Amino acid sequence: MLSLVSDQIENYVQKNTTKLPVHLIELIEETYKSCNSPQMISGQIEGSLLQFIVWTTNAKNVLDIGTFTGFSAQMMASALPDDGKVITCEINTKHAKIAKKYFDKSPHGHKIELILSPAIDTIKSLSDQFDVIFIDADKSSYKDYYDIALNLISDRGLIVIDNVLWGGKVLNPIDKTDHNINNFNTYVSNDKRVEQVILPIRDGVMLVKKSANIT
Ligand SMILES: C[S@@+](CC[C@H](N)C(=O)[O-])C[C@H]1O[C@@H](n2cnc3c(N)ncnc32)[C@H](O)[C@@H]1O
Repeated sequence: MLSLVSDQIENYVQKNTTKLPVHLIELIEETYKSCNSPQMISGQIEGSLLQFIVWTTNAKNVLDIGTFTGFSAQMMASALPDDGKVITCEINTKHAKIAKKYFDKSPHGHKIELILSPAIDTIKSLSDQFDVIFIDADKSSYKDYYDIALNLISDRGLIVIDNVLWGGKVLNPIDKTDHNINNFNTYVSNDKRVEQVILPIRDGVMLVKKSANIT
């Protein structure tokens, strides 16, 4: 996998980014001890970015597609007002169990609702508007999640999509997932309904907002 920044820079950035609370450090430790693909966790830097996005958009309603062990849901919940809400979608019982254990340890856990079901079914059933939607579940469904997210996002809201650089493999797509992500990026680039930017942070984070002419 292509690293976008050197380990030295990554460590420096981490050292100079706001420290995580103890329960989230423990959550990362437990994720690395007990999950098969612990690197799926978004981590301190991307989590802090999500926290800033929720804060600066004055978000009240957040949708988190792909809970894993609940890190992104927790980072976003911590930037919400006390009556704010995160709906987070997960399909894997083991991941959901760890996530819930740490939601209970968090002062913001009461803002998070985990729905254990295929994310596509969950998001199709939603009718509320969301101020921030984070897409970070199975890559084969990104386009479906995005199209539904565009109907659910508020006029000044942001859709955030993770892993859009896929370890650099979008440059020379070989397998099905490489092609899915590359096709997805092209689809969004050609979508007149939106404006977007890709940030070369971690594995590539895309921010999408509705075009000025449709808000
Ligand atoms: C990359 S991880 C999410 C990481 C999380 N957002 C974080 O910041 O730590 C992707 C998660 O999506 C879940 N997932 C995969 N396919 C799914 C589906 N169809 N519906 C709901 N969740 C799914 C996986 O089980 C996994 O826990």
